Amino acid sequence: MKRRDFLKGVTLLAAGGALAGPMAGAAEIISSPSAAGPAPDDKGIEPIKGLTPIRPLDPEVSRPISVIIIGCGNRGRTYAGFAKKFPAGMKVVGVSDILEHRTKYLGDQHNVTAEMRFGHFREVFASGKKLADAVVIATPDDRHYEPCMKALELGYDVLLEKPVAPTKKECENIRDMVKKTGRVVALCHVLRYAPYFMALREVVKSGAIGDVINVQHMEPIQYAHMAHSYVRGNWRREDETTPIILAKSCHDLDILRWIIDKPCKYIDAAGSLSFFREENAPKDAPKYCTDGCPHQKECPYDAVEIYTHLKQHTGVFDLQGNKDPDFILSRLKDPRYNSYARCVFHCDNDQPDHYVAIMGFEDGITASFSMDAFAPKGGRRTRIMGTMGYIEGDSKSFTVTDFLTRTPKLWNHEVAEIGEYANSGHGGGDYRLVRDWLEAVDRHDPDHLSSSIDVAFESHMMGFAAERSRRTGKKEKIK
Ligand SMILES: NC(=O)c1ccc[n+]([C@@H]2O[C@H](COP(=O)([O-])OP(=O)(O)OC[C@H]3O[C@@H](n4cnc5c(N)ncnc54)[C@H](O)[C@@H]3O)[C@@H](O)[C@H]2O)c1
Repeated sequence: MKRRDFLKGVTLLAAGGALAGPMAGAAEIISSPSAAGPAPDDKGIEPIKGLTPIRPLDPEVSRPISVIIIGCGNRGRTYAGFAKKFPAGMKVVGVSDILEHRTKYLGDQHNVTAEMRFGHFREVFASGKKLADAVVIATPDDRHYEPCMKALELGYDVLLEKPVAPTKKECENIRDMVKKTGRVVALCHVLRYAPYFMALREVVKSGAIGDVINVQHMEPIQYAHMAHSYVRGNWRREDETTPIILAKSCHDLDILRWIIDKPCKYIDAAGSLSFFREENAPKDAPKYCTDGCPHQKECPYDAVEIYTHLKQHTGVFDLQGNKDPDFILSRLKDPRYNSYARCVFHCDNDQPDHYVAIMGFEDGITASFSMDAFAPKGGRRTRIMGTMGYIEGDSKSFTVTDFLTRTPKLWNHEVAEIGEYANSGHGGGDYRLVRDWLEAVDRHDPDHLSSSIDVAFESHMMGFAAERSRRTGKKEKIK
């Protein structure tokens, strides 16, 4: 759509009139306070109107798709939750985890039969037979490759957690196997399915800000989230998972590639682990926060405060609903969970706590990216500079300013307003991804997916190039 057409659509809607021309038929989805026409939002900014409607999450499938959940941790449970909400679309018929209490918890929730409760993922494939329509692979990063290859070989469709795999070779092998088998595989680049990012991209694609020239994108991790996942937790070491640019930020590289919609040519990256290091430990800080640290009151990374009082990131403790502070504290002292009680300066972590990258895309478009541990809250921030306008957003709302009218317009569609999207993580992206994947499986149509392996492959190559650049200090081509 041409920029003028988009603006025309916006103007007509702002006057409360009927749509004509290229925007005809596009239902209103955004902040529509009254049928008489849009009223200004709280900040007095007119809402943007006329984007593609957001469909309900209920999948349009001919039958419930039967699924085995491999990896019953945080993500496995999230995806399984879709089946509880939309039983006509998905049925969990099998569970697999090396931790028996996790298969029991999820298996019981979904009435999974005893013979369909597996330990190691190899048990799922041991019979050599296909036991369900599809598998969800939500194991740790370094355990995606083997179950994914095996599942494809046996004819399963796959919902694969990101990142695809830790090495370029493994990513290539999975991509080739998907081509060879023709199976439907969705990578969990969930932001592509979040209403906010979908609207952002649609506005850019409409031409409303002219040609994109440069993008600034920031991912503030939030200081306690950094401590939890990348200092104490499962993603603290590159060799055991993937470099943080993939483990955390493959979403961001993917979103940049998706919004700019042109191939990335080169990347120049820098970053290191500056703060969470042994030599920065305060004097007399014990190995565990639960061992009476004298610095507890002045340390924002104190595990007792983060988990028992603030109750952040408690999903790893298998609390099963019991969030009593004393129970959480007992978990922190329990040898099965006490890695999360470690002092942030006494861990075996090596992931960078700050990471910046400059990217060059086709047609001279540039982008800069910054991933930061030291921020009070998460929520990606994005600024998009176009020849005729400018977009600025914070993952919840964005404004579009047209240089001719100089009047900003606002996209501010609280996820809570879109029914079931409210309870789905990543701004509604988690469940919307599952819905699209189930529909793609039902129709045997990989093109129904926005996050196919082919497109994921490209952003992963950007991540591998970023790591090469960070280590060598040289600008790296994407190859
Ligand atoms: N798409 C996203 O936005 C997003 C967000 C967070 C995590 N992730 C990714 O999802 C994956 C899972 O993350 P998580 O937070 O759920 O981790 P988790 O640790 O909570 O869950 C992983 C589960 O896999 C199990 N497991 C390990 N080895 C296994 C094996 N051989 N067979 C069967 N089960 C095994 C573990 O016991 C654990 O229960 C990771 O790759 C992570 O990077 C994606």
